[in-house]
Amino acid sequence: MNSANSPLGKPLDRVDGPLKVTGKACYAAEADVPGLLYGAVVSSSIARGRITRIDAVAAEALSGVRLVLTHQNRPPVASYDEPYEDDDAADGSPFRPLYNDRVLYSGQPLALVVAETQALARHAASLVRIEYEVEAHQTDLQAAREQAHEAPAELPEPRGDFDSAFAAAAKRVDSEYGTPVEHHNPMEPHASIVQYQPGGELLIHDKTQGVQNCQRYLEQVFDMEGKIRVLAPFVGGAFGSGLRPQYQLPLAVMAALKLKASVRVELTRQQMFTFGYRPRTFQQLKLAADGEGRLRAIEHRAIGQTSRFEDFTEHEVEWSGMLYACDNVRLGYRLAPLDVYTPLDMRAPGATIGVYALECAMDELAHEVGIDPLELRLRNYTDINGNEGKRYSSKELRACYQQGAERFGWSRRPAQPRSLRDGHQLIGMGMATGVWEAMQMPASARACLDADGRLLVTSATADIGTGTYTAMTQIAADAMGLSMAEVEFRLGDSSLPQAPLEGGSATVSSVGSAVQRACAGLRQKLLDAVQQSPASPFTGANLETVEFVDGQLRLKSGEHAVPLRDIVQVSGALEAEASVKPDEKRDAWATGTHSAVFVEVRVDEDLGTIKVSRVVSAIAAGRIVNPKTAGNQIVGGVVWGIGQALHEETLIDHRLGRYMNHNLAEYHIPVNADIPEIDVIFVEEHDDIVNDLGSKGVGEIGIVGVAAAVANAIYNATGKRVRDLPITLDKVL
Ligand code: MOS
Repeated sequence: MNSANSPLGKPLDRVDGPLKVTGKACYAAEADVPGLLYGAVVSSSIARGRITRIDAVAAEALSGVRLVLTHQNRPPVASYDEPYEDDDAADGSPFRPLYNDRVLYSGQPLALVVAETQALARHAASLVRIEYEVEAHQTDLQAAREQAHEAPAELPEPRGDFDSAFAAAAKRVDSEYGTPVEHHNPMEPHASIVQYQPGGELLIHDKTQGVQNCQRYLEQVFDMEGKIRVLAPFVGGAFGSGLRPQYQLPLAVMAALKLKASVRVELTRQQMFTFGYRPRTFQQLKLAADGEGRLRAIEHRAIGQTSRFEDFTEHEVEWSGMLYACDNVRLGYRLAPLDVYTPLDMRAPGATIGVYALECAMDELAHEVGIDPLELRLRNYTDINGNEGKRYSSKELRACYQQGAERFGWSRRPAQPRSLRDGHQLIGMGMATGVWEAMQMPASARACLDADGRLLVTSATADIGTGTYTAMTQIAADAMGLSMAEVEFRLGDSSLPQAPLEGGSATVSSVGSAVQRACAGLRQKLLDAVQQSPASPFTGANLETVEFVDGQLRLKSGEHAVPLRDIVQVSGALEAEASVKPDEKRDAWATGTHSAVFVEVRVDEDLGTIKVSRVVSAIAAGRIVNPKTAGNQIVGGVVWGIGQALHEETLIDHRLGRYMNHNLAEYHIPVNADIPEIDVIFVEEHDDIVNDLGSKGVGEIGIVGVAAAVANAIYNATGKRVRDLPITLDKVL
């Protein structure tokens, strides 16, 4: 539709904003459930070994403690001998909480204490004594590099002849980059409330990015087909940490089934460091170019850590085969199993670290060749994804470079490092390219216009703070010619029409397409309804000759109009449901989102302190449904990129095999004072291949490239190339 009154493309406030800022949005741990019992998790203090004894006598002696659940007294679990793989499972055998006496990592949940209050449960949990037979562990990727095996990734075959091209080239870069473990740390810790129903069914409030993923997981694991409903109407951030069912969920279910009571299990902030995370990696980049900077050879080899039970695999190195024109490319990716939990998708998984390495290496190459880093990108520009040999359905990256550079004032960048200063501060400018996928997954939605003319649209998707409620309301209002106030969108309930995990930046393209299609079905039903009477002025009209605007169905010729409300007052409520799969026409094309990030830093010459003073991020992601919520996504991504560059790192004491900075005091993230004004540009990009909306998704592209741009700016400021993230002051001095 997209008439002048359409909300599509407008920077509207979040429709759920008032609920959130007034505290009325109910998060997973907050559901008001009568007779609720509270669980507290007891975590392993060793990284590898066997439980020899669990002494729960002191805990059980406390009045109000109802259960100490361990591997010895848990209810039978149907799938434990053949573990069920959820929608985001890695290759291997998913972790099974309280499966047996084996300890696989430090922080592993070994017992759940259930009591009448949360405080009592936590106190009682502190009294549980666990004895172990300790085994030697390995948690250090650096020490285990030689034990790495091929990752089960479907990497593109090598193309051309890397070795000869690299050897023969005029200019070369050969550098290794290191990235640390990072933990997601959303504001809302993971929590589940399992509401035990009289018939034994379970109504579950969970912190998740996929209510149906959790529903299927529990139905399979506990053999409870048809007895599980999962709700997650509000999620306080997730960034990937809610893509898989986390252990608090099955623990709460076990306790509820055993006690036949409702149970809440909420993880502490410290326990937020006891499951998935971004893996530590080492990445070797070899780039070669001719004297003018045209790329002749690229090799990108990564080693990442994984657990001993799953091979966590992400797209880390593929970006190096697709971002620039190059005939000789070789990619490699290995995994080293350690005595740790399995890593997990975290915002732009793989790209965040893989593109960091590539884009720093490009900066090094620009220096080798002696040309401007942006000019190097332009000389190697391509509209073809070399991994797939396909042209992009749209790629306005050139416009990102141009508009971003102009807004930033890139032409004022000093070519020589260490040549711009303000008192004690060295000033530097850096840039990088960002790239992410433009995925679409099968999704369904239902649209129902009730007899009062209000539209209710539903789908079992999630809103993890991204703006799903708002964007879907806009898409539906646009499709039906209604105002935002006349439309309600509901999500986060496994009983609603099928939706994929909210992840991969694919919610607008997937669920948005289903909403559009369901509304198209509803438009047809409304037209059918007005054509019921033989004397209808709409007789002979079809969806091409009518339009839905301003709450009315009218002939495009302008001769006749009828309010939708009048139609449903006669017909009664009308409803349509649609399921949408990615269109086959996508197969002939490569798809992706792109960005150009420009960063200015100020480095104190004496102290080594680094301050990011300006950021411009220019994004090409197709049609932007809501520039405000989409802009928020990019700003959030840039903030995280700055954190990745300068702050974030979860440190293990390898003697204990245990994370030491597992709290938000010692796990550093940027605070307001660390963040400058962030200038976001959405460049125009039209794409009629990706989906009918032409939207590619913005949840992840915002972070990609940022850390490289910061690192490159630090080099420009100081002449020092720090390749190991985060770039803390000790590494700069
Ligand atoms: Mo995102 S890591 O797909 O939640």
